[in-house]
Amino acid sequence: MAPIMHGKVFTVTGAASGIGRATAILLAEQGAAGIAICDVNETGLKETEESCRKFDTKITTHKVDVSNADNVSRWISDTVKEFGRLDGAANVAGIAGGDGETTVQTIEQRDWDRMIGVNLTGVMYCMRSQLGHIAKPGGSIVNVASAAGIRGLPNSAAYSASKHGVIGLTSSASGEFGKKGVRINSVLPGPIDTAIFRDGEKKGLFIEEVQAGATQLGRMGQAKEIANVIVFLLSDSASYVTGARWTVDGGYSA
Ligand SMILES: NC(=O)c1ccc[n+]([C@@H]2O[C@H](COP(=O)([O-])OP(=O)(O)OC[C@H]3O[C@@H](n4cnc5c(N)ncnc54)[C@H](O)[C@@H]3O)[C@@H](O)[C@H]2O)c1
Repeated sequence: MAPIMHGKVFTVTGAASGIGRATAILLAEQGAAGIAICDVNETGLKETEESCRKFDTKITTHKVDVSNADNVSRWISDTVKEFGRLDGAANVAGIAGGDGETTVQTIEQRDWDRMIGVNLTGVMYCMRSQLGHIAKPGGSIVNVASAAGIRGLPNSAAYSASKHGVIGLTSSASGEFGKKGVRINSVLPGPIDTAIFRDGEKKGLFIEEVQAGATQLGRMGQAKEIANVIVFLLSDSASYVTGARWTVDGGYSA
């Protein structure tokens, strides 16, 4: 049987680390013909590229800040020029913020703008560029939101608001492009053992015992466990799945 992603071309943002890296590696393992990976962290991107090279996949790496519209549109048009097609996109890049004490009353304007700029506007910039090129029918986009996109997260209101926004953007776009045969879904991770969580722990934003303890499985998730669902949603195996808010959170939101 041919690998499930045979002949297909994907883009992955936030691919220098964590969930984005695991997604790029799994796409390569599943036989993708081409993967364009981007991030602001060039060292991490090179490491992801090395891991993907074990497989028979062509990889391109670009330094892209997803909150910069020009960066994003140039990256997507370069990708389509390079590979001649675009079948799927995983929009994964994101940031957390605050110090565990910030409230809606005390949030700084620049911190709010940065959070919304990267986590929400960044996803819009990606989809705006991708939708013009993506295969119709057959294309698939997965945007990474969060379990904090369907419930509040005190002291991380900007983060939670940005992720609520990603879900609304995704559901709206899925309604716009469904009849053209493009599927668009959001994935909502719970507490996952990656840099964003561990850095947040140091700042007092998260505590493993609290967040992992609030899941039904009683543990943190691993990046690969999110990548498995992203790659499924990108694949034709998910051919009747669109507009979904797919929780991958060990039961945290349940
Ligand atoms: N880890 C968790 O507990 C958790 C939970 C829910 C949702 N998420 C979401 O999952 C996604 C991936 O996070 P992760 O857990 O892999 O963390 P991570 O920190 O390992 O990865 C995030 C990546 O995004 C990149 N990035 C940040 N700002 C960027 C920008 N402006 N342009 C391009 N790249 C940028 C970072 O450099 C990093 O490589 C994020 O959107 C995050 O909000 C994570």
